[in-house]
Amino acid sequence: MKLLVTGGCGFIGSNFILHTLESHPDVSIINLDLLTYAGNLENLQDAEPYGERHRFVRGDIADRDLVRSLMSREPDAVVNFAAESHVDRSIMDSCSFITTNVVGTQVLLDACREFGIKRYVQISTDEVYGSLGPEGAFTEGHAVCPNSPYAASKAAADMLVRAYHKTHGMDVVITRCSNNYGPYQFPEKLIPLMISNALNDQELPVYGDGRNVRDWIHVLDHCRAVNLILRDGRSGEVYNIGGASEYTNIEIVKYILRRLDKPESLIRFVADRPGHDRRYAMDFSKLHSEMGWRPIVGFEEGLNQTISWYIEHDAWWQRIRSGEYREYYEKWYGQR
Ligand code: NAD
Ligand code: DAU
Repeated sequence: MKLLVTGGCGFIGSNFILHTLESHPDVSIINLDLLTYAGNLENLQDAEPYGERHRFVRGDIADRDLVRSLMSREPDAVVNFAAESHVDRSIMDSCSFITTNVVGTQVLLDACREFGIKRYVQISTDEVYGSLGPEGAFTEGHAVCPNSPYAASKAAADMLVRAYHKTHGMDVVITRCSNNYGPYQFPEKLIPLMISNALNDQELPVYGDGRNVRDWIHVLDHCRAVNLILRDGRSGEVYNIGGASEYTNIEIVKYILRRLDKPESLIRFVADRPGHDRRYAMDFSKLHSEMGWRPIVGFEEGLNQTISWYIEHDAWWQRIRSGEYREYYEKWYGQR
């Protein structure tokens, strides 16, 4: 199977590539990534032993000519992870969110259609559903009701994917997953930010009252789900993916401080995020009943492993914080 994976140098995309190369020996991957601030080729150093089974192309999913030239190599399927993914950045400036998340998706869909690509998988998010009260969970039938410019751009992309299925009969699947954590997550997101700040004895900024709830899933559980849906998901369907692990932000922050033996006085309550969704929770019974999937990494075990990973890979996130990671691509490129 030949895959075109987009956004493969980011957090989930790089975990997906490493997981797939290891667990699916029949798969080879072209990885199209623009290497924005969130893309880091260092995430894929462990792909080197797989040789030509992983090929990296630097470029934009919204670049029609480049995307058409990659589609002409006739991949069996496209898995679109590429996105601007950080809610806070979308509040500051949403332009690149529309260009990448919406226009980029449209360019990929058009090219898939032109070249008759057999399957298109859109990696979406639980955030398209909006916010929940204290009870219940999102099902795939829940109304799409996004609250941040990021979530709105992902919802718009989902609507395009759905429309290309209905109008052009394209074989598409949409996945909607909850909050991922694990290795290689950019240290702007809650868990890696709190771990790296605590390790540096810096303040831990908690938005609002810290009681917003997220459902956490280990990134490898997400990757396993995507690989199943890629092969066995029904065309035109949406599949929710969740971790069945709901925690308030303050619970997570305090847990990290305890594990690292750091004082709670590092916590600093700061102004709330505008439009901050109160709670997410996922009903993933459709994926469980159709494909037998459920998350297998327990949250405490996964979070402990993740904390250890950030301690052991101190150089990885320190290079991100200093900006040095941006030089890696130039060195890598210069050797080829
Ligand atoms: P990330 O920000 O870590 O990585 C995004 C990657 O996309 C980067 O490598 C970046 O260089 C690349 N990229 C950005 N714009 C591009 C463009 N125009 N062309 C090509 N490449 C481009 O994001 P992530 O957390 O790994 O999320 C990956 C996908 O999963 C996103 O679509 C996101 O919406 C979705 N998602 C994320 C989570 C989560 O908790 N992180 C949960 C559910 C869904
Ligand atoms: O739910 C899936 C989504 O999870 C993905 O679609 C997004 O791409 C991903 O970024 C993530 O969005 P969140 O906004 O939930 O993640 P973030 O790590 O930014 O924030 C998690 C929670 O922690 C949220 O309630 C805001 C809060 N927070 C975050 C940061 C960065 C803080 O209190 N302080 C912080 O400094």
